[in-house]
Amino acid sequence: KLSIRDLDLTDKRVLIRVDFNVPLKDGIITDDTRIRETLPTIEYALRHKAKVILCSHLGRPKGKPVASMSLRPLVDHLRTRLDHILGDDENVAFSPDCIGVVASEMALNLESGQPLLLENLRFHSEEEANDPVFAKKLASLCDIYVNDAFGSAHRAHASTEGITHFVKQSAAGLLMEKELTYLGKALTEPDKPFVAIIGGAKVSDKIEVIDNLLEKADAIIIGGGMAYTFLNARGQRTGKSLVEIDKIDVAKAALQKAKAMGVRFLLPVDHILADKFAPNAKTQVFSGDGPFPEELMALDIGPKSIALFEEEIGEARTIIWNGPMGVFEMPAFARGTNEIAAAVARNHDATTIVGGGDSVAAIQQSGFANRITHISTGGGASLEFLEGKTLPGVAALTENQRFR
Ligand code: 3PG
Repeated sequence: KLSIRDLDLTDKRVLIRVDFNVPLKDGIITDDTRIRETLPTIEYALRHKAKVILCSHLGRPKGKPVASMSLRPLVDHLRTRLDHILGDDENVAFSPDCIGVVASEMALNLESGQPLLLENLRFHSEEEANDPVFAKKLASLCDIYVNDAFGSAHRAHASTEGITHFVKQSAAGLLMEKELTYLGKALTEPDKPFVAIIGGAKVSDKIEVIDNLLEKADAIIIGGGMAYTFLNARGQRTGKSLVEIDKIDVAKAALQKAKAMGVRFLLPVDHILADKFAPNAKTQVFSGDGPFPEELMALDIGPKSIALFEEEIGEARTIIWNGPMGVFEMPAFARGTNEIAAAVARNHDATTIVGGGDSVAAIQQSGFANRITHISTGGGASLEFLEGKTLPGVAALTENQRFR
């Protein structure tokens, strides 16, 4: 795969597909992580005197312009973030449509070292349909295409896949490279022991990740709601805890696979039980493998589980974490997730990788985010990557070069 660093960008129109799908509230960006993470690529291109054209989707507007999903509010934010590169009188230009006459003219008239942001790609239904005519129109805006949108790489859309068939050169941006390097190394040649921590509510969301990691990891730690389907698969009754009855067989198969592969499969050994799913629920700690009181539900892992998991985490040299240990949004059930975040952050000898929307929110809430080796900007994309799937946006970059 080519890297943006392999190309001569000087005076070229470089279209960078970024993932600016950031949370917005009343036009204000509430978390700009994805923008900040892609700045190295944008700055690199600007410094190398490229005419930088940025394109992204935002939300799911279903092929029509929706005012609340316009990328226009990002212009000022980007201007501020690029303040150290742009001159006093230089701005981030904005095209109110991502294709068409205005976009083409703005792209053509762009000066070297100047940025232009295009309006939301998904205001055209052809983007998600991966329509070749639309992809060609996007391609016509540029001399070089760079994909830095790891968070969208699991989508085979016009701006992530289709466009590569119509441009002379495509390359990966610096964020894309960083994501693929960290996640890729963990899956292909992790320093051992390799420990995967998988949490979240449902087995069905994570079973493919677990299945893939069972072939690579030395230990898998399970927390969150999904642990209760696994405990039921082991024959424990878990009161009113979340259990996916139709996934018990899948969970049993995973437990058997772990045994066959010699992977340590750690489930919580104690639990914070609550009388209702609410921040002010009455709680108690429950340990052991007997049945839970019937009217109670587990909403976090207990102190013995934390200690057990901490021990495994402390020994690891590669750690991947995806999914919280409990209902971390409620302070009464955040301890498990916070302690695990602290344990991961404490292990300075390990490469630590956190991926997936919820776990990223959890690590940020825990205050340990700056001690993690790599926090992925991909939600669905990092999940599919960990499942071992080929991401269309990544495959397209490679294939595009193969035929050249
Ligand atoms: C994400 O937030 O995971 C990406 O930006 C992809 O968004 P999507 O799920 O709407 O395709």
